[in-house]
Amino acid sequence: MSFSDFVTELPKCEQHLHIEGTLTAERRWLCAQANNIEIPGVKSLEQLKGQYLTEYLYEEGQDATKYLQEFLEIYYASMNVLLTEDDFYHLALDYIKVAQAQNIRYLEAFFDPQAHTSRGVSLDTVMNGLLKAQGEASNYGVQLHWVLCILRDMSAESALETVRRAEPYKNKIIALGLDSDEHDNPPSKFQESFLMARKYGWKITSHCDVDQKNTHEHIRYAVTELGGKRLSPKQCELENPELYLTPQLESGADRIDHGMNIADKEELLQLVKKANLGLTLCPMGYQKHLGPQNVFPKVKKIHQFGIPITLNSDDPAYLVYSKTETILGVAEGCQFSFKEIYEFEKNAIKMAWTPDVDFKRKF
Ligand code: ADE
Ligand code: ZN
Repeated sequence: MSFSDFVTELPKCEQHLHIEGTLTAERRWLCAQANNIEIPGVKSLEQLKGQYLTEYLYEEGQDATKYLQEFLEIYYASMNVLLTEDDFYHLALDYIKVAQAQNIRYLEAFFDPQAHTSRGVSLDTVMNGLLKAQGEASNYGVQLHWVLCILRDMSAESALETVRRAEPYKNKIIALGLDSDEHDNPPSKFQESFLMARKYGWKITSHCDVDQKNTHEHIRYAVTELGGKRLSPKQCELENPELYLTPQLESGADRIDHGMNIADKEELLQLVKKANLGLTLCPMGYQKHLGPQNVFPKVKKIHQFGIPITLNSDDPAYLVYSKTETILGVAEGCQFSFKEIYEFEKNAIKMAWTPDVDFKRKF
């Protein structure tokens, strides 16, 4: 069996995927037409597709530290076409179909409510659309769960208000995440929101993006302090605790999104290992902006240190690589074997936050 056939057929999970980052040129065009919104400089779908291909490419020698801000500018500007329940429903349904086509059976996806409420779209509109799509996901063989992300470049008050407003949906959301521009926006700024998330019974995660200012301190805080005390596996009443990756520290996040810079410091590698946390990596996105030589050796080092990692697509509409292409690209870049790729999907099952992954399914 070829590597490509193996990866295509492998049942997969995805746990680092921003639903707004799946907004294709086609869907953006359709929403823009339906909502009478002009896309600057664009008169046709073909033109828009061309923009997607050229806007966001790493060029050798460009200032790689700015990649996150540059990406986010495009990401937020593009989503202004999403206005109605139907828009959010179709956005999510489009990706559910993509997941089905890639044999992604389990999906924990982020959404960014403040990116919409700040434009006058209500949380109810967003939630109704996303939850309708979630209700239909099983028709496509996909288990889908939502992770609410707060935007770290907005205020702590706005974050807390968002988490408060989400209370009516607390049983329909599984976790609180933290994303957007990390520069001078440490996870500690949002401790109150994460404490509230714990009260809702949500899991907790935080982006610690690659090569950001103070990244090592952000990782340390997220791993050891974010969200205060967590429930022990016993208190969580997990049926088969051994099937889950159960964090070992009394407090801190339940996993880390990205966090690749732990590879720079032995003490952080040790800490994450001791905490028994997994990392959701998106290496094809990083290598696009930072260059492969600054990414693949670190991914390999983290894996060889014994820390569970998963491979994810992050924002596939912009970063171009799908989950399947990510696995293939990383396997080539890191020279990973079939067995290691299989192991990353098994890690993903252990890192899942709900029991509806079919653990008994034979891989
Ligand atoms: N929002 C969407 N994608 C993101 C990423 N990779 N990092 C931070 N915020 C994001
Ligand atoms: Zn992300």
